[in-house]
Amino acid sequence: MDEHKARLRASELEDSGDVGVNPTQNLTMGEIIATRFNRRDLLRGSLAVAAISATVGTRALAANEQPAKKANGLSFDFKEIEAGVDHTHHVAEGYDAKVLLRWGAPLFPDTPEFDPKSQTPEKQARQFGYNTDFVGYIPIDGSSDHGLLVANHEYTNEELMFSGVGIQDAKDVAFAKMTKDLVDIEMAAHGGAVVEIRRMNGEWQVVKDSKYTRRITAETPMDITGPAAGHDRMKTCADTTGRKVRGMINNCAGGVTPWGTWLSCEENFNGYFWGALSDTHPEAKNYKRYGIGTPAYAWGKFHDRFDLAKEPNEANRFGWVVEIDPFDPTFVPNKRTALGRTKHEGAAGITNSDGRYVIYLGDDERFDYVYKFVTAGKVDMRNRAANFSLLDEGILYVAKYNPDGKGTWLPVVHGQGPLTEANGFKSQADVLIETRRAADLLGATKMDRPEDIEANPQTNRVYVMLTNNTRRKDDQVDAANPRANNAFGHIVEMMPDGGDHASTAFTWEVLVKCGDPSVASVGATFSSETTRNGWFGMPDNCAIDSQGRLWISTDGNNAKATGRADGLWAMETEGEMRGTSKHFFRVPVGAEMCGPFFTPDDETLFLAVQHPGEAEEGAPVSFDNPITRWPDFKDGMPPRPSLLVVTKQGGGKIA
Ligand code: FEO
Ligand code: CA
Ligand code: CA
Repeated sequence: MDEHKARLRASELEDSGDVGVNPTQNLTMGEIIATRFNRRDLLRGSLAVAAISATVGTRALAANEQPAKKANGLSFDFKEIEAGVDHTHHVAEGYDAKVLLRWGAPLFPDTPEFDPKSQTPEKQARQFGYNTDFVGYIPIDGSSDHGLLVANHEYTNEELMFSGVGIQDAKDVAFAKMTKDLVDIEMAAHGGAVVEIRRMNGEWQVVKDSKYTRRITAETPMDITGPAAGHDRMKTCADTTGRKVRGMINNCAGGVTPWGTWLSCEENFNGYFWGALSDTHPEAKNYKRYGIGTPAYAWGKFHDRFDLAKEPNEANRFGWVVEIDPFDPTFVPNKRTALGRTKHEGAAGITNSDGRYVIYLGDDERFDYVYKFVTAGKVDMRNRAANFSLLDEGILYVAKYNPDGKGTWLPVVHGQGPLTEANGFKSQADVLIETRRAADLLGATKMDRPEDIEANPQTNRVYVMLTNNTRRKDDQVDAANPRANNAFGHIVEMMPDGGDHASTAFTWEVLVKCGDPSVASVGATFSSETTRNGWFGMPDNCAIDSQGRLWISTDGNNAKATGRADGLWAMETEGEMRGTSKHFFRVPVGAEMCGPFFTPDDETLFLAVQHPGEAEEGAPVSFDNPITRWPDFKDGMPPRPSLLVVTKQGGGKIA
């Protein structure tokens, strides 16, 4: 999503490079563009891709490690769909894509059917929420046919949820018409859901009377744990302990741990706080760095805790990774402060060879950073409960990408380097509350909006989605962010030294620069085998299937930007076809593609269609005048963000 003023809610939040400014001069190093990269920039198409795969940062896979290749050299075996934009979704031939859960779906046996014109906060808190981003599947007894779905509800589109609140490109109107009841519905539509699902006779169904069903909202009581818990800067009138908070907000991507918990990431939390602090307020600089005080929601009008003038510390209690046990509906979610406070995109992890758990974390803002967290303890698969303290102790690192294809993880640890009292950090709590400022001082590499990051357990390579950054100027280009005015994003591949995810050293490569390869000025580097349907822009979420293959979902493609809707693409990362992508699924107009997540047997793919019908540039939309009524297509029913299950007709692995 990008720069057009008319596009408000999602763009205000996703596009928050406007507000959470990184003021430092770290490594916007036009002068150190590697000669290695300049050489590569001269190459195009498959030649370029072959050159990339032959150089730094990759380990050749043994033949028996490689996903099975078809005769054409590709590991993916599906007929790709046509790129384009229309009112509905499309999936590759031979596959079914069915809506399993849509906004408003009753989750409990006593929840009334959804009626968008008689919605209440109480009903919404018992229904599936709005705008799912992350979807995770946690098997029950190892099953790929029976498990718990965990889904984030990232944000809300009032103009599409409620009749008569105004149109999307008239923010003031929408604010003025928001009542407390509507705000409370929005708060109940945020958070997440745990839903038990079962596949019977090939069809996935929601278990309605499940003991696991849970809705988490912006009001759910949570504990704050780790080094920042209990700190004075975390205390409010309602919580004098600094250890209790209500709700999680703007939860974008996430992760599922090997011990079966759900990690849900607070991303653009800044957009929920009203009011301003004086320039001399102790938190003023901190809040400026996160863009706090530029509200996109009316919550502060009715809830004092979202008004900075009344509750100046509340915003320090958001921007964390939240760990939730989906098997216990009474579990109090934990905000794990050891993982830092940023606009957390996701928290996918991998168990390191020594047993420690390593979580990769993107901070989605223009010119912000890539992080990882390495636990102090080891994963214990024989004692589930022992893992519930793992994420409170460990080391947070931020990435520095050097122009020679090597890189370093810099510890974000109090007392080390510049992270001292002289710079305003009296403790690790201070460092974590102001993670971004700490990373600025460490000299981390400013990236083009780091989104989802996934490690491939088969190769140990790590894939970083960098969605776009049109504000990068020519003199701010660096090796890891090689394009000025980066409208279409790119993907960086990282290889930890020796395959050790706890190592502070790594090598890296640009896997692909995105955009239309037929337009030379774009400088895209998809392989020449990639068709006109197969390329994409704006990589956002991603998944790695059990064969070690990479799948990428996008956010920001539309008729004007790329002549195609957002969707899901499969990308080859190994062998001669490296850099070839194929189009598997596309969303209806106005939506972005979220999920993706596979069952362990790869027979089911979960996808989320987020904000269908959201305004594209210059096309104001509303509840009463939507551009699509996907997926119900019934008069009076607005578009409904939904979670889909994709399966192969007749059974078998996806693609
Ligand atoms: Fe919610 Fe960075 O995407
Ligand atoms: Ca995202
Ligand atoms: Ca997104």
